[in-house]
Amino acid sequence: MDRIRIVGGQKLHGTIPISGAKNAALPLMIASLLTRETLSLQNVPALADVNMLVRILGHHGVDYSQNGRRVGEDEHAARAIHLCARDIVDTTAPYELVSKMRASFWVIAPLLARMGEARVSLPGGCAIGTRPVDLLLMALEKLGVEMEIEAGYVHAKAPKGLIGAEIAFPTVTVGGTHTAIMAAVLAKGHTVITNAAREPEVVDLATCLNKMGAKIKGVGQSRVEIEGVGSLTGAYHRVLSDRIEAGTYAMAAAMAGGDVMLEGAEPDLLGSALEAITQAGATVTTTNEGIRVQRNGAGLTAVDVSTAPFPGFPTDLQAQFMALMTMAKGRSRITETIFENRFMHVQELARLGAHIKLEGDVALVDGVKMLQGAPVMATDLRASVSLVIAALAAEGETVVNRVYHLDRGFEHLEAKLGRCGAVVERLSNPG
Ligand code: UD1
Repeated sequence: MDRIRIVGGQKLHGTIPISGAKNAALPLMIASLLTRETLSLQNVPALADVNMLVRILGHHGVDYSQNGRRVGEDEHAARAIHLCARDIVDTTAPYELVSKMRASFWVIAPLLARMGEARVSLPGGCAIGTRPVDLLLMALEKLGVEMEIEAGYVHAKAPKGLIGAEIAFPTVTVGGTHTAIMAAVLAKGHTVITNAAREPEVVDLATCLNKMGAKIKGVGQSRVEIEGVGSLTGAYHRVLSDRIEAGTYAMAAAMAGGDVMLEGAEPDLLGSALEAITQAGATVTTTNEGIRVQRNGAGLTAVDVSTAPFPGFPTDLQAQFMALMTMAKGRSRITETIFENRFMHVQELARLGAHIKLEGDVALVDGVKMLQGAPVMATDLRASVSLVIAALAAEGETVVNRVYHLDRGFEHLEAKLGRCGAVVERLSNPG
């Protein structure tokens, strides 16, 4: 299994191009199941999760090519991909595939909308809490789906087709909102979703669906209205830029010091996170090119944050911000309100010398003068990258083990950081 070796202490100077958002690319790719025509997506990041979803969609009969070439012919990054679900050949999403990536459960919505039935494995537990799918299933039931859960599979049927309805989410759920929208666009009649997720990735999905002929109103608001249509067409769509990747590198620059331009980053998608980084002592400026983050000399100051649905502080940046706070002056209080058990990075950060105390869903971080490099273990996607950030500022060498988590969500991480002067290398470890 690959490892990443980092020698800390270098300031970061240079430009980091921000990739297309993984969390937008995945639902957009799944939306290709909603039409017989080709959906072309540009700016798709080359990530393990994207490759896995290509395999899953292929299982349902989706024809795939990238930059006009067939799978396997080109090893280059999948900048533009073309997906065509002319005929859906299988409505079962088996455990072996769904268990590898939770978001693949969302195929349940387009399969039901197109085929009137779906048999999808429950995603099961996950390293960041229980993450149930009850609200996704509730939304589908409201739209007329009958279902049974048997032997770890959801057997879902819509014998009379999907029928528009009122769906009120008791908590904000991104996956629930994606699912409800993808089902409702082809349902008969009118659907109203209340307490919908307002995340930019939801907006990106709805924008693309509208290009495909869907009638979705209120995109980006908590009340979304959808008028079902008979069928959807193909479309061209550019995946929005990855706010989590941009926020991560912004925190890396703030922590290691230096001057970094995050090319293509969109400040509007990162409001509360940029505010927190600024309060912590970095200078953040917005230019036509993207977001520039500088910190030269000045120390870091402790800042309290609490995660919340968009436009609040994103849970996907909580681990990275905690890394930043480990070297800030004073005590920072970091509250996780979205996921239980999303503090697995705490014990690994402690191995680098961080002082962090956990009290339920709150982490109290007492900044130290310096971290020391050490061998650490990547536990989940965002936790892993928080270790990379901490290692960039730590004294000496850190080896991050189990980096396949990073490959799921960060495109060309070593190259992007390396271009800015960081000492980062991948150690390939066959076997
Ligand atoms: C998505 C993102 C993930 C991000 C999260 C929150 C993708 C691929 N993943 O995950 O990176 O951290 O949004 O911004 O886009 N919940 C239920 N029942 C349900 C569904 C969710 O109780 O049926 C709960 C979850 O346990 C969690 C909260 O709702 O506590 C939010 O989860 P949700 O927004 O659905 O996260 P995901 O869509 O899985």
